[in-house]
Amino acid sequence: MATATATKTASTTTRTLHVKIKRYQPEGDAKPRWQDFTVTAEPTDRFLDVLNTIKWEQDGTLTYRRSCAHGVCGSDAMRINGRNRLACKVLVKDLGTQITVEPMLGFPIIRDLVVDMEPFFHKYEKVRPYLINDEPLPATERLQSPSERARYDDTTKCILCGACTGSCPSVWANREWVGPASIVNAHRFIFDSRDRGGAERLEILSDRTGVWRCRTIWGIHVTEAIEEVKRAIMYGTTATE
Ligand code: FES
Repeated sequence: MATATATKTASTTTRTLHVKIKRYQPEGDAKPRWQDFTVTAEPTDRFLDVLNTIKWEQDGTLTYRRSCAHGVCGSDAMRINGRNRLACKVLVKDLGTQITVEPMLGFPIIRDLVVDMEPFFHKYEKVRPYLINDEPLPATERLQSPSERARYDDTTKCILCGACTGSCPSVWANREWVGPASIVNAHRFIFDSRDRGGAERLEILSDRTGVWRCRTIWGIHVTEAIEEVKRAIMYGTTATE
């Protein structure tokens, strides 16, 4: 019986990448430093594959978060070529051959590309991001029309990766500000016809660390969601004209 030997052969499309990574290993580094790596990859590889190749073949100490590898868990958000992205959603062909990677701005760095997400999730919890409704349960589900569901559809897509928050200058300037991801997740429930906690969330978001500090843009229609929350605070209603 013939024996197949698996060998990885370079295709004609293989490219050489020069990857510059901001490193910080607290046991040895007084401050972050840059380190260069050279690695080959296919244009259709994801950038997460590139990081894995570096870690598995060149430097096992390189540290970053990842889990699902399919843009669902939100754990591998990082700043790639100056823009916050999920490493598993970016293809090598879209990055060029000189690539710079660093942890997201606005978060404390724990190690290499891993940032401390605790303050982010603390702010997220603050807006009560879950359905609030103490009314007696109906005999069946709490029904909702397709148009009522569509009202907050966009803000259900947030995967809490922190990319919008880490690219927001208002967050960089004021660590107390609740940040765009929290407002997006408040929006998801404020505009849900089944929810009864909207007034409470609007109260939370109307204080000095709430929506009024927003100045910027990103991703999911974050700015539109924030504007809708501002209008709901100003006019005291979530109804559309
Ligand atoms: S690893 Fe889960 S979103 Fe990228």
